[in-house]
Amino acid sequence: MKKIQIAIDGPAGSGKSTVAKEIANRLNILYLDTGAMYRAVTYIVLSRGQSAQDSEVLKNVVDQIEMELTPNHVFVNGKDISDAIRTPNVSQNVSFVAMDAYVREKMVELQKKIAGDQSVVMDGRDIATHVLPDADFKFFLVASSEERAKRRQSELSQKGYDIPLETLIDEIDKRDKLDSEREVSPLRQADDAIRVDTTKMTIEEVIGFILERIDSEFL
Ligand code: DC
Repeated sequence: MKKIQIAIDGPAGSGKSTVAKEIANRLNILYLDTGAMYRAVTYIVLSRGQSAQDSEVLKNVVDQIEMELTPNHVFVNGKDISDAIRTPNVSQNVSFVAMDAYVREKMVELQKKIAGDQSVVMDGRDIATHVLPDADFKFFLVASSEERAKRRQSELSQKGYDIPLETLIDEIDKRDKLDSEREVSPLRQADDAIRVDTTKMTIEEVIGFILERIDSEFL
């Protein structure tokens, strides 16, 4: 198979991670969850009792930590923090970390290094616009905020968190706003990305839609 790089961007809860992971699985190529990297930095800052809005704190943390990613796990300084980065507290603070220019520079550097010269499916907010501008395929997934909040609610309830839908809609709207209006690499559809509205689609339908568009020369 020829080298293939696929960028999947979109707001929280649009189905990116589930779809990207499954596409990587089916194509037998690397999956990289870039949101997990910003979450990992956020978790470390919060676990030290520090502020996610202090750029000095963020710089220190990013310079001190050694981050390692596998398709399903995130390790910081050798410790598996894959579950710890998915808590509501991390979700509520991660946008502040993701808007910091120094954090972004370092994370993008690492993302490019991991992707290197191999086939990859990467999901995030700025993959098509910034991290892999030459990706072979670019998809931008969207869904209504109500549908995205429902998806988050069911994910969280499986983990034992019972959070009202209204609270989650509010959180998602706030996060979208912060992610789209920040100065550095805001969430934005790349001009050459294919937009997929997943509101009324099943995961399997989204995966099918994407795979159909991937040229047969790559498969
Ligand atoms: O996809 P997620 O919810 O795990 O992302 C967590 C946060 O990180 C989200 O607020 C947006 C930010 N993010 C980003 O700015 N750039 C990326 N490439 C991936 C995520």
